[in-house]
Amino acid sequence: MHERWEDERLTHEREIGMAQRQVRSTDEEQLLEKAKRYLPGGTLGNTQFADDVAFVVRAGKGSKIFDMSGNAYIDYLLGSGPMILGHAHPAVVAAVREYLERGSTYFTLNEPAIHLAEAICQAVPCAEKIRFCSTGSEATFFALRAARTYTKKDKILKFEGGYHGSHDYALMSSSPTVPKDFPQAVPDSAGIPRVLEDQVLIAPFNDLETTSAIIERHHHELGGVIVEPFQRIITPRPGFLQGLREVTQRFAIPLIFDEVVTGFRLAWGGAQEYYGVVPDLAAFGKIIGGGYPLSAVVGHAEVMEAFNPDREASGDFIAQIGTLNGNPVAAVAGLATLQQLHQEGTYRQLFSMGHALRHGLADLLKRFGTAGQVVGEDPLFDVVFTDEPVNDYRGVLTQNRELLRRFNAELLKRGILKGSSKMYMSVAHTAADVEQTLTAVRESFEVMTKA
Ligand SMILES: Cc1ncc(COP(=O)(O)O)c(C=O)c1O
Repeated sequence: MHERWEDERLTHEREIGMAQRQVRSTDEEQLLEKAKRYLPGGTLGNTQFADDVAFVVRAGKGSKIFDMSGNAYIDYLLGSGPMILGHAHPAVVAAVREYLERGSTYFTLNEPAIHLAEAICQAVPCAEKIRFCSTGSEATFFALRAARTYTKKDKILKFEGGYHGSHDYALMSSSPTVPKDFPQAVPDSAGIPRVLEDQVLIAPFNDLETTSAIIERHHHELGGVIVEPFQRIITPRPGFLQGLREVTQRFAIPLIFDEVVTGFRLAWGGAQEYYGVVPDLAAFGKIIGGGYPLSAVVGHAEVMEAFNPDREASGDFIAQIGTLNGNPVAAVAGLATLQQLHQEGTYRQLFSMGHALRHGLADLLKRFGTAGQVVGEDPLFDVVFTDEPVNDYRGVLTQNRELLRRFNAELLKRGILKGSSKMYMSVAHTAADVEQTLTAVRESFEVMTKA
């Protein structure tokens, strides 16, 4: 009964859509007050909005989410990427619902996790073996541990502006306000042991010459190189990933692709298929859990064997134990998501909607004479408000951040939800969504250029 009512209400909300934005309901006001009282900063540690536009999500369906007051938003935040099919896709909901009767977690082998392991290993070029964990941060953390175990060397090289989650090794020079000279790291968080600053070397994305020089100088102490092959929204220059592959191979340093975002998004086989460069290890998350907590380290069998408990006594064993490793409900959701993605024409649809929106955005930027460009690939991109080249983090730093903040706020007022610096596409986005979004963008630019 309740479920039917909920479905009807969502349909109704979709119909009234953005044309009649509701004032905030008392329920929603109260929830926001409680959030402020119990959650530091009133946030869950993810996207946060200014007080005047803050909202509480009630539900998501397809390309839209709905707040507690009945407003609909075309959603380009998409749960930070996992919801590539859109919210509450019927096939995913049905698969999860059916499985729930069988239990939630067992802390040992289960059927969906094994099927998902097979599906990922068959799809991803570097994946011979896989170890599941729960978050993207864990996946990169354990991929780095695997690389250090394999090489018996401690230091890690990562790229300035690259984000690999919130663990101590990852939060180095991801978003420095004042970057240091390469390869010195700037910690992004309080509470990170100072000693780790020396353990992480920082290189400029897309600058093969400088990166190679750092690797050549430090190869004797480098345990691994981790990179987002498509860094945030920055595409790799032709030859950059190939060159990185070549120099890491020359010194037998494992190359780790952080595919938490790009996995099953840029292509079925991830960025490694899309850009044609195969790393030794990769971290996956987001899409493979279909919106549930699930992530994985994948890689060449030789490196991954260190996770094998038979090695426990050898000194080369990686301890990686997780209560929810390979959680069956998340695996079911992931499998159902992958099955949908594997259907003929799915990626074509994803790319074509993204293409239309990107080009529409670029045209509007030009029409309004706003300094800016659309950076990214069709399934994930954003506007960067600068005319300087955006090939690395320092390029992004040149943008007018105030303009970006206003752009995001104006869009939100018009029922378009996006992350602070990303627009994720889903296969649920329609041509009508794109058109409505571009109308909102045009109106936003009008307001922004007037003021
Ligand atoms: C490239 C990349 N790696 C790792 C992570 C961390 O994933 P999680 O938030 O699941 O820990 C993220 C999160 O957005 C990411 O974008």
